Amino acid sequence: MSMGVKEAIAARHSVRAFARKPLTGDEIHELLEAARNAPSSLNTQPWRFKVVTDPADLAWFGTSEASRKQGWLAGAAAIFICCADLAHYVKDSQSAAFFYRDSNIITGEPMDGIDAYVAREAAAAEQAKFGACAMNTAIAEAFLMLRAVEMGLGTCWVGMFDEANIKARFAIPEGLRIVNILAVGHPDEPEVYPRKRKTMEEIVLK
Ligand SMILES: Cc1cc2nc3c(=O)[nH]c(=O)nc-3n(C[C@H](O)[C@H](O)[C@H](O)COP(=O)(O)O)c2cc1C
Repeated sequence: MSMGVKEAIAARHSVRAFARKPLTGDEIHELLEAARNAPSSLNTQPWRFKVVTDPADLAWFGTSEASRKQGWLAGAAAIFICCADLAHYVKDSQSAAFFYRDSNIITGEPMDGIDAYVAREAAAAEQAKFGACAMNTAIAEAFLMLRAVEMGLGTCWVGMFDEANIKARFAIPEGLRIVNILAVGHPDEPEVYPRKRKTMEEIVLK
């Protein structure tokens, strides 16, 4: 199936019911490839993904406190544990900033202050770094979610989870924080709920 971005945006919705059909390695690769190409601040690309497909692990997500017992997760074909790499974020910011400055891709005032910017980032509290990394990771996931629609797959962003539990089970390295988990699979939904959206008037500031 091939569709334009407009159609993919219109068709995307949170899918919480899936067919019992695993994802192929190629499908997983295609999804990650979409995320890999997303933009990020100073090209830091702080996203890291652990792709879980083992049926026992998927079942665990559905029954465990780690997902606040969101049972439907057990039916997903894969769960992407979407992480932000705080440990490498500042170093990556710095090297990208210097690359942009030295190759004159970004010039002028922002680059004049880049040393101070990087120093501020390095000194920032973990929560501030997490905010920056999570913002970038969310953009990558948006790309992934739209590519999934184009491939006939469904996704659902899951923000209710217990980080410590998941980090322990899947040995997520120190220095990484989990932004969210993302359920992925072939949709098999009894019903698709209409999406409720605020009106243009509500979201556009006068
Ligand atoms: C940050 C975030 C956290 C979410 N957490 C959950 C969750 O824990 N469980 C769930 O079933 N859906 C979750 N969702 C999905 C939202 O409920 C859904 O995107 C929203 O209701 C709009 O519906 P739509 O995605 O179908 O357009 C989350 C979405 C986002 C963006």
